[in-house]
Amino acid sequence: MPTVAIVSQKGGSGKTTLALHLATCAAYDGMQTCVIDTDPQASAAAWGDWRGDFLPEIVTCPPVRLQSTIQRAMRGGTEFVVIDTPPHGDIASREAARVADLVLIPTRARALDLHAMEATAQLVTYAGKPAFVLLNAVPARATRIIEETSEFLDKLGLPTCPVRFGERAAFHRSSAAGEVASEAEPEGKAAAEVAALWDWVREQLGMAKPKKKGGRKKSEA
Ligand SMILES: Nc1ncnc2c1ncn2[C@@H]1O[C@H](COP(=O)(O)OP(=O)(O)O)[C@@H](O)[C@H]1O
Ligand SMILES: [Mg+2]
Repeated sequence: MPTVAIVSQKGGSGKTTLALHLATCAAYDGMQTCVIDTDPQASAAAWGDWRGDFLPEIVTCPPVRLQSTIQRAMRGGTEFVVIDTPPHGDIASREAARVADLVLIPTRARALDLHAMEATAQLVTYAGKPAFVLLNAVPARATRIIEETSEFLDKLGLPTCPVRFGERAAFHRSSAAGEVASEAEPEGKAAAEVAALWDWVREQLGMAKPKKKGGRKKSEA
């Protein structure tokens, strides 16, 4: 079962936002999808509560229960898993990277955030899984920052994902309403960036394009 881990030692880098958006893409593609929230703050789970009957499914679990939670989800028919992790959570991040097929590391392109990437890089390299940095909340006209950041990350042995997310109000506005960017602003730039990322993730995981799109409600799934 394709499993994506979202890790970064820095809080506020966009882990939960990314996890929820990817999982919702999979749910719209008709896949039975589960977000496993291993952050004690449980922000993904709170979003699930606000979202109510709408997919994807969110479950919480402590990092030591990750493997068994994934197995239970699989037995229940889950076809795609996204793991959200806490900041400063070495054990949680390591466990998530260990069980994942693909690791995504969102970061803002700012000095202090990049400094925190060294710890994340060590942790992810240890797991030996394909791992990519997603540059998040990138300001407009930031070509130079992007180049410098990508070079810095290369030196840490972390490739940068070809898709980036800009600094877009649609991300936090939609999350606060238990939605994703494509639901709040279907024609917006945030929605287009998420769709591009989802195409890229599917390709990385060797997943076929869906034949038929699914509904968005749990009661209709
Ligand atoms: N690309 C973006 N543009 C604007 N705001 C963003 C973006 N990504 C995340 N945010 C906002 O930044 C805050 C932190 O994001 P969050 O996903 O909770 O980070 P983390 O889970 O890493 O702590 C949230 O308010 C979220 O809505
Ligand atoms: Mg979070």
